[in-house]
Amino acid sequence: MLKILRTKDYADMSRKTANLISAQIILKPDCVLGLATGSSPVGAYMQLVDWYKKGDVDFSRVRTVNLDEYLGLPRENDQSYYYFMHHNLFDHVNLPEGASNLPNGMAEDMNAECARYDALIRSLGGVDLQLLGIGHDGHIGFNEPCDHFPTGTHVVDLAERTIEANQRFFASRDEVPRKAVTMGIGTIMAARKVVLVASGAEKAPIVKEAFFGPVTPQVPASILQMHPDVTLVADEAALSLVK
Ligand code: F6R
Repeated sequence: MLKILRTKDYADMSRKTANLISAQIILKPDCVLGLATGSSPVGAYMQLVDWYKKGDVDFSRVRTVNLDEYLGLPRENDQSYYYFMHHNLFDHVNLPEGASNLPNGMAEDMNAECARYDALIRSLGGVDLQLLGIGHDGHIGFNEPCDHFPTGTHVVDLAERTIEANQRFFASRDEVPRKAVTMGIGTIMAARKVVLVASGAEKAPIVKEAFFGPVTPQVPASILQMHPDVTLVADEAALSLVK
């Protein structure tokens, strides 16, 4: 079932999202959080760090699994998702060493890496709360539009539109990685709770299409219409095409 939290703006969206995440941690201190990178969740991570510093949220028993990582960017590269997560969240809270997990985009054998990541998520008992952003083309994680819904972790060729959107973080278009490794749609759908954050007018058309259009692998996020517990936390601008 879909719940929509309509928020005033990005700050309000971030606070409400952090509230949902911290409620999850309070209800189940040893929960498994599925985490996303990108611009949309940054404010929520900042809010969680703030609450952690005030003693209001405790990550000591939490485990995390991230959605995705670029192929070929070492951890120290400030555009790697490993770097992003440490910089925006992990380094500032009491998440124990070894409790955070990302797929390794530098692995020599990517097939083995994908199998390792799926086995790891299974061994943690699956994801309790999966945080998602949404791409302009409807991607979640880096599951790009295609002719089926991929089940497990896999390597993807990024769509032209995604490369364009990600270019803002790199010195030039040539430096944007062309491939990534992502959790599959099957794993995302198996999460017990999904929270998708969307902000800004540029996301309005895809928010409408994904949640109110036909369910199709050409709009990967549309599969979330079939998930039993999805909360869309979006600001007025992102919801401007939804009545
Ligand atoms: C990031 C991810 C992507 C982003 C999406 C939206 O881990 O999985 O699906 O959530 O590209 O990115 P932003 O939030 O930057 O608009």
